[in-house]
Amino acid sequence: MTTYSSKPDPDRIWQDLTTLSSFRDPDSEGWTRRSFTPAYRAGRDYIRMRMKEAGLTVSQDAAANLIGRRPGRDRRLPPIWIGSHTDTVQGGGRFDGTSGVVAALEVARLLKENRHELAHALEVFDYTAEEPTDFGISTVGSKALAGNLSAEMLALQDGTGRTLAAALREYGGDPGTISQTARKRGSVAACLELHIEQGPVLETAGNILGAVSGIVGVRRFRVEVEGRADHAGTAPMALRRDALAGAAEMILALETIAAACGEPESCVGTVGRIRIAPNAANVVAGVAELNAEIRTLNGQLLEELSSRFLSACRQTAARRDLSVQLSTLSHTDPVQINPEILALVRQACEEVTELTQEITSGAGHDSNQLACFAPVGMIFVPSREGRSHCPGEYTDPRSLALGTEALLAAVLAVDGRQAAPGELP
Ligand code: GLV
Ligand code: MN
Ligand code: MN
Repeated sequence: MTTYSSKPDPDRIWQDLTTLSSFRDPDSEGWTRRSFTPAYRAGRDYIRMRMKEAGLTVSQDAAANLIGRRPGRDRRLPPIWIGSHTDTVQGGGRFDGTSGVVAALEVARLLKENRHELAHALEVFDYTAEEPTDFGISTVGSKALAGNLSAEMLALQDGTGRTLAAALREYGGDPGTISQTARKRGSVAACLELHIEQGPVLETAGNILGAVSGIVGVRRFRVEVEGRADHAGTAPMALRRDALAGAAEMILALETIAAACGEPESCVGTVGRIRIAPNAANVVAGVAELNAEIRTLNGQLLEELSSRFLSACRQTAARRDLSVQLSTLSHTDPVQINPEILALVRQACEEVTELTQEITSGAGHDSNQLACFAPVGMIFVPSREGRSHCPGEYTDPRSLALGTEALLAAVLAVDGRQAAPGELP
């Protein structure tokens, strides 16, 4: 049991979330704070200030990850990491990622207020750019920590021609030394993250906390379809090479392939972004570019579905006399949470409320990358009506406070697990 006189403060957590949400793109819908934008910088400046107030020593690594460190008693022990991300999707909400960063800050504040020195150092992270960026990849900061941020990725460009390397440099990183950011197995005791569920499972079951047992893997593709731009009035149907019509068939193929999986695999396939050219009302589309993704908890199935989708794209292109270029934007493996960490996180949640269950994550997280070198654990709190990646995303302050209490309990359990027996908190 935790022996804390002070519990997480729901008002303080709420205040941080409210302030963070005020750093948003004024020209976009919802609570948009895309990575590598002025709003992102302002949000991170706020987190930096709050980290300092919590007594943490703040730094940024080569991938611009924002890190607040609290030293531990025993320098030989690897640190415990807690945190999440502060970037949002376009038109996103106020809780995805930010809840985990604010909960981690609150844990650091509680340790300070209780004058509790852990055996391990504690590092609070705001991982850089977790959401899909304008460069086409996601989980930028945690990829670097996992050694998975390649030179090709650093050279990717956004719509303005800026490279990812340049963006990292602008936001406090040092892309030239990115390879030194990669962590070795065993160099971190555990990475723990509180996150909103982003789905309806907890709310439907009437539960408040979820101990995550597995996280989906994600494969993302770029599909570039080229046909021929023609006059929409004079080009006969039989002679057209319509890139958009071909792309539409590919989108439907993905929907069919994913839906055919059914339970228990419950895989999903989505095309959430499309660009066409010339994008004019009276012109047959000459080019269509899609961003497609497939997710499931089953790694082998992920491979099979991906190759099925790619061959459907090739077949459609061949039948319609289109050319198609297929590239993999990213490939993230599913994660099965290590049974010992799952049991520890579950117990931490149960200490806080009996309204706890195990749950899987259909969303991807930095933990997918962090799992390459450290045990990861996640705690979910409910999302109202299961909504996320939209302005209506909502989690109530009480659930956030309970989740934070469970996060603290999990940190203490990890710390106690490796401290000398007489020093258990
Ligand atoms: C991250 O939010 C993802 O699952 O796309
Ligand atoms: Mn998200
Ligand atoms: Mn997230």
